[in-house]
Amino acid sequence: MAPQAAISTFRAAAAAASVLGVIAGLLAAQGESTSRPGAVPPWKRIGEPSVVACGGCHIEVTREWSASLHAKAWTNQNVRVATKDFSMPGCRACHSPMPMLATGLEERPAFRDYNHEDGVHCLSCHGIDNGVAAARTIEDAPCRPRLEPKLLDVASCYPCHQPTHQAYDEYYTSKAFREGRKCADCHMPARADGKGRSHGPHGGLNREFVRKAVEASFSATADEVKVTVTNRTGHKFPGEIPSRSFVLRFEEGERREYISLRRPNKGESIPDPRLTPDETRVLTFRRTAATAPATVRLLFKPFPLTPDDEAMELAVWSTK
Ligand code: HEC
Ligand code: HEC
Ligand code: HEC
Ligand code: HEC
Ligand code: HEC
Repeated sequence: MAPQAAISTFRAAAAAASVLGVIAGLLAAQGESTSRPGAVPPWKRIGEPSVVACGGCHIEVTREWSASLHAKAWTNQNVRVATKDFSMPGCRACHSPMPMLATGLEERPAFRDYNHEDGVHCLSCHGIDNGVAAARTIEDAPCRPRLEPKLLDVASCYPCHQPTHQAYDEYYTSKAFREGRKCADCHMPARADGKGRSHGPHGGLNREFVRKAVEASFSATADEVKVTVTNRTGHKFPGEIPSRSFVLRFEEGERREYISLRRPNKGESIPDPRLTPDETRVLTFRRTAATAPATVRLLFKPFPLTPDDEAMELAVWSTK
């Protein structure tokens, strides 16, 4: 079987049988293949899907990563459309990257022109010459973890998240930055069992996570309802991904009124209405019938066409 065919067969199997089941099955095979003389060592397996290269031994991390957009950076629908199926060469490098530590943290990574479907591979972040970058050196582990302080630094998210998507210009103005809280402190929270950090998904598709993004309070007079929102992320809210929107929905009897905050589309020459880092903003809705109860819902929509009743409800308040 050609490698490409093997990979797609594997992917189909993984999708059908759930990643966990498949990687449990691979566990034994992985152990054998690393001890076999001449076998490709784990840190050179960037041509193999992450679940094959690392997943057999790192089951929990791989399960988390598989659900994240890092794993779907080449395949998710938004990115396929925006890049015209990656026919735009300038869009490829970060969505299928070679190890970023090899090119250096000031540069965008090199394009990995094989195994594209694996998106941001384990080795895109962990790959170093003779082992894997880690928080400590473990002499006898089969993947040769080596202490690499750069991996733990906030700068390790920079090569992909700054050059075209400008996460840092915003982050450097935030209270989180001044207090020394890193991207990973929010996006890779410590696991409940205290062993390591979660690899995702901690972004705009995770409702519990998005709830942490804003704080809100409400008040009403006979004439208006006031909503006070504060951005608790380390960047603008909604964050970088252009399809996300924060929608305030006002209901009074049959009347509906909306305020929508989202990143302007390319070519749309309007000021960016999103909340800047740590900003507190007061938004007001006029009441037309003081006797009718009024309700405000704070909604987060992952996609522009998400209907209101399928949006994430971050808060709701009523004068009733
Ligand atoms: C054959 C099994 C095996 C494979 C394959 C493997 N690892 Fe490991 N890995 C281990 C073991 C065992 C440890 C040590 C765990 C310990 O001592 O707590 C380890 C440790 C690590 C650590 C350090 C963990 C810590 O506690 O700080 C990192 C990072 C890591 N592996 C990444 C990877 C990556 C990335 C891949 C794929 C390229 C990979 N590993 C493939 C078995 C494996
Ligand atoms: C320097 C690295 C880099 C390059 C080059 C790059 N991207 Fe991205 N892209 C990212 C990162 C990081 C994200 C996730 C955060 C974000 O949306 O800003 C992302 C996310 C996206 C998303 C959102 C996907 C989703 O899940 O909704 C789209 C769409 C996208 N990129 C399109 C493009 C297009 C089109 C190009 C080429 C013009 C491109 N990217 C080039 C790094 C890059
Ligand atoms: C976006 C970059 C990135 C990707 C992709 C990534 N990691 Fe990590 N990983 C990190 C960082 C950063 C840490 C260190 C967190 C800390 O200790 O502060 C880490 C820590 C780890 C550890 C140490 C123990 C733990 O649970 O925290 C292991 C093991 C590991 N990664 C394995 C993997 C495997 C396997 C994959 C692919 C399925 C993967 N990583 C993908 C950035 C990444
Ligand atoms: C090698 C490139 C690369 C590096 C390094 C990298 N990212 Fe990403 N990241 C991406 C790309 C590409 C996407 C967008 C995937 C998509 O939606 O198409 C992304 C998406 C994300 C998302 C959305 C995830 C989700 O599941 O909703 C978060 C959050 C994120 N990155 C945080 C981080 C953090 C924190 C770091 C540093 C520890 C980091 N990234 C390092 C390339 C990278
Ligand atoms: C104080 C916590 C915090 C810090 C620090 C932080 N973020 Fe976020 N970030 C969030 C929250 C909460 C969201 C979810 C709301 C949203 O999607 O806008 C988010 C959203 C995102 C998204 C969009 C994810 C998606 O799927 O919509 C990306 C990409 C991202 N952050 C990257 C970064 C990077 C890179 C850094 C460091 C430069 C960083 N973040 C620092 C809390 C934080």
